[in-house]
Amino acid sequence: MQTSSTLTPPAIRHDEWALSDVHGQYSDANSHADLYRFLMRWIDVSTHLNIGYSRFGQRHLTNANFTRLIDRIARPMLELYDDSVHRHDRRLLDIGSGRGGAAIHAHQSYGLEVLGIDITPYNVERANANARRRGVWPAVSFAEGDAQDLPIPEESRALVWSIESPAHFPDKKKFLHEVYRVLKPGGVFAFSDLLAVPTRVRQWPEFYKEFLRVWDVPYLETMETYSEALWELGFDLRKTEIVTKNNIDIYTGYARRYLTYFRIPGFYKWYTGRVRRRWGANLDNVREHLRHSYNALSRGTIDYGLFWAIKR
Ligand SMILES: C[S@@+](CC[C@H](N)C(=O)[O-])C[C@H]1O[C@@H](n2cnc3c(N)ncnc32)[C@H](O)[C@@H]1O
Repeated sequence: MQTSSTLTPPAIRHDEWALSDVHGQYSDANSHADLYRFLMRWIDVSTHLNIGYSRFGQRHLTNANFTRLIDRIARPMLELYDDSVHRHDRRLLDIGSGRGGAAIHAHQSYGLEVLGIDITPYNVERANANARRRGVWPAVSFAEGDAQDLPIPEESRALVWSIESPAHFPDKKKFLHEVYRVLKPGGVFAFSDLLAVPTRVRQWPEFYKEFLRVWDVPYLETMETYSEALWELGFDLRKTEIVTKNNIDIYTGYARRYLTYFRIPGFYKWYTGRVRRRWGANLDNVREHLRHSYNALSRGTIDYGLFWAIKR
C-alpha cells in the first residue's frame, strides 16, 4: 500500500524558476546552453534534446541513443494503438517537441504524421527547418504553444506523446488535463519524464534544488503522483517503467569522468581554450552544470520514468 508520504511530491521547488530561463537554455542564450555546445561534438543536439537510452554495453554518446529512447516509447505505444479503434488515424501530437528529432523519427520509422507543439520559438523554427531539410515537411510540422493550454480542439487526437519535456512545465496536472481534453476516448498517451525520488530528495535537498536550477526545472512529480493523477483524470494507466540505469546512471558516469579530468589543472586550462575555440562553449559553465547534476544524480534523487496510458 502506498503511504501518504510517497504520494506527496517533494515540496522542494526551484522558486526562482522563470519561463525566460527555459527559453534561454533552449535558444542558446544563457549559461545553461553551454552544455549543449559542449555535447554537440558527440551528438546532434541541433535535432534531439533528450538524455537518450542505452542498454548495457551500448555506446551512449552517439545519435543512436536518441532513436533508442524514441523507439522504447513508440513501440509499446503503437502496440496499444494498433489494438484501438483509432488505429487508422496516423496523426501524432508531440508536446514539447524540441528541435523535431523525435517527430521526424516517428514519421520515418512508423509512418506517423506529426504535429509538434513547443513553447520555445527558437526550437519551433529549428524543428521546421530540420523537417524541411529531411524532406518530411509538412507531414511533420511544428507550431508554438504551451503544453498547459494546448492550441488543439477537444477530443480531436487519438495519439499523443511528450518526451522528457514535462519536467519544465510549472503545472504538470494542468498539462495532463490538457492531454485528456484533446484525446479522443480510447486514444493513447505516452510520455517520459524525470521523477523525484522523495526519500532521497529529503536526504539531499540542497543538491536536488541545484539540479532543478541548472536544468531550469520548476519542480518534479514522482512515479506515484503521476500515476495517481492519471487515474484520477480518467486514464487507464497500462504500463510504467523506471529506466534510470539506461540513461541517468550513464549520464552520471560521464559527468563523474569529466569532473575528474577537469581536476587536472594543465588539462583544464588547455581544454577550456579548445572548447571555446572549436565549439564556442564556456567550460566553466559546463563544469558547474556537470557538478550540480552529478551531486544530485549520484545520490539517487532523480529517476527516469516511462508511462503509457489510454483515455477511458
Ligand atoms: C528536454 S527538451 C525535449 C525536446 C524533445 N521532446 C526531444 O526529445 O528532443 C524540452 C522541450 O520542452 C519545451 N517546453 C518547455 N516548457 C514547455 C511548455 N510549457 N509547453 C510546451 N513546450 C515546452 C522546451 O522548449 C524544449 O523544447
